[in-house]
Amino acid sequence: MLFSGTFHGMTLGSPALTTDQLSRHGAGVPLNNVTFVPYDGTYYSIDYIKRILSDDHSGIEKPSAMILETVQAEGGINVASVGWLKEIRQICDENDILLIIDEIQVGNGRTGSFFSFERAGIVPDMVILSKSISGFGLPMSLLLMKRELDIFRPAEHNGTFRGNQLAFVGGTAAIQYYNETKLEQKVRLRSGQMETYLKDEILPLDKRLSVRGIGMIWGIDFSRIDPSLAMAAVHRAFQNKLIVEVAGRNDSVIKLMPPLTIHEDTLQKGLRILKDTVSDILKGE
Ligand SMILES: Cc1ncc(COP(=O)(O)O)c(C=O)c1O
Repeated sequence: MLFSGTFHGMTLGSPALTTDQLSRHGAGVPLNNVTFVPYDGTYYSIDYIKRILSDDHSGIEKPSAMILETVQAEGGINVASVGWLKEIRQICDENDILLIIDEIQVGNGRTGSFFSFERAGIVPDMVILSKSISGFGLPMSLLLMKRELDIFRPAEHNGTFRGNQLAFVGGTAAIQYYNETKLEQKVRLRSGQMETYLKDEILPLDKRLSVRGIGMIWGIDFSRIDPSLAMAAVHRAFQNKLIVEVAGRNDSVIKLMPPLTIHEDTLQKGLRILKDTVSDILKGE
């Protein structure tokens, strides 16, 4: 069972788990064996899931697993609440469903703790990690699982683009750096700085804008003005020497994801460029 707004990758199994049409069409084959249900932020998400699991006429088979991002990144920076995450864990426990958390984009300290689900005090059955896990962007991915779920025989699940020595060394160094430099504390500090700037400087530019995020992943939502302004702002920001990207439904959200190690001056400079850019775009300049 998966959640509307989700993104889980581009290899054949992954587009089936992903909701945006561009990624799904990339598969070129019918995608099935997945049920999508509403994510947090819709008042009926939990009730709906409970209903379809308990109704023997819902027509939906009980899933073997639920896969989710605690913050939907490509989905538009949708931050699941602690209460919702706890409820999902409980539903999985009560119905013998595995809970798999995709930490590929928001793990590795991005939200202020190493794993993004820590804030909810829950323990998933499996955890997926890649991207920052190698420390500096080398190909590397990990699947963590409870020991009793590991039914693979050694080397049964192998492939070319899996772990490699350089990435392992980088990953080890990154974890050491994370602990030694108390990166979590820095992320929380920078998070507060980003939130303050977005709310005090960018939100007042137009009352129809909204901002949301956690840790060092934030979004500026243009959907109540004109979704296309987000992409226009991304192009203009690039001309102004700032890289940001779009996310969310109709690409209506500017996604901010600075490096966790960013210096305060650089962060503030980037935010100032962003403010000027958004301001110009809103004025139609
Ligand atoms: C949440 C999430 N899951 C999965 C993926 C796919 O990761 P990979 O390219 O390592 O398969 C991405 C890539 O952006 C992602 O953001």
